[in-house]
Amino acid sequence: MYSTESAEYSETVTDRDASTDTATEPAGVQTPEAQAKVLVRDLKLWYGETQALYDINMDVVERQVTALIGPSGCGKSSFLRCLNRMNDLIPDVAIRGRVELDGQDIYAPHVDIVQLRSHVGMVFQKPNPFPKSIYENIAYAPRLHGIAESRSQMDELVEDSLRRAGLWNEVADRLDTPGTALSGGQQQRLCIARAIAVNPEVILMDEPASALDPMATATIEELIDELRHNYTIVIVTHNLQQAARVAGYTAFFHMGRLIEYNDTDTLFTTPREQKTEDYITGRYG
Ligand SMILES: Nc1ncnc2c1ncn2[C@@H]1O[C@H](COP(=O)(O)OP(=O)(O)OP(=O)(O)O)[C@@H](O)[C@H]1O
Ligand SMILES: [Mg+2]
Repeated sequence: MYSTESAEYSETVTDRDASTDTATEPAGVQTPEAQAKVLVRDLKLWYGETQALYDINMDVVERQVTALIGPSGCGKSSFLRCLNRMNDLIPDVAIRGRVELDGQDIYAPHVDIVQLRSHVGMVFQKPNPFPKSIYENIAYAPRLHGIAESRSQMDELVEDSLRRAGLWNEVADRLDTPGTALSGGQQQRLCIARAIAVNPEVILMDEPASALDPMATATIEELIDELRHNYTIVIVTHNLQQAARVAGYTAFFHMGRLIEYNDTDTLFTTPREQKTEDYITGRYG
């Protein structure tokens, strides 16, 4: 339904409330009917001379899980990093196009990147707790942002974040021990708790469970399912079963292009594009 070269695109657009459309929407835009939390238009990215993303158009739906799938090197992580300007840190990157969060251009000159990243948090493939206590892992960013004023408010925030990340019961009696002493799965939930602590609206996850065993992976997937009620989640995964389990929407990338984007059931059962079908049936990738 939201395929890149969809002939139905113009119908989809006219179905929408005209006031929500930007005047210059290009052909091939990705337009789920629900309100877009993150809107991507004509996004292109180069590392030096090499182009890694081509004309990506995509609406990320609010309070849904969107999975990014595709063969290694197709640009999933590059795209994900564009959504909170994580690529800004990489030298020689050039980015063109538009990314909006709630209608605001996140690449506009006045945007405060620290603020942006408090709205759009990130969880990485390898759990990366700070070399600090469990408590401090959570408290660090809220303190930086002046979110909790008193010690008791901070205590509450730490507990609440750990509860939301499904970790509280396992660590309540050892908040002063190092975050790095937890198991891999616990560390990843600590990193999710840390992302939640600054009250983000969007959480980006780049293969958050790929370094974990099946039990810890299942726990993370349950957590994602829980979080989806309060957050907009974009997750990169190589695990197609995982995408099918956790994501309401799935986007298939191939060689830097967004080939197809649809609700997960449709994308997996009746893909529109041959390339998508080849990938999900394991013909390459
Ligand atoms: N920091 C970088 N500098 C230069 N080129 C990069 C950089 N990061 C990624 N690339 C290149 O951009 C392309 C897309 O890479 P990216 O990491 O986004 O792919 P991916 O889909 O996340 O792959 P994987 O599934 O292996 O993680 C690749 O050709 C990669 O070599
Ligand atoms: Mg990647």
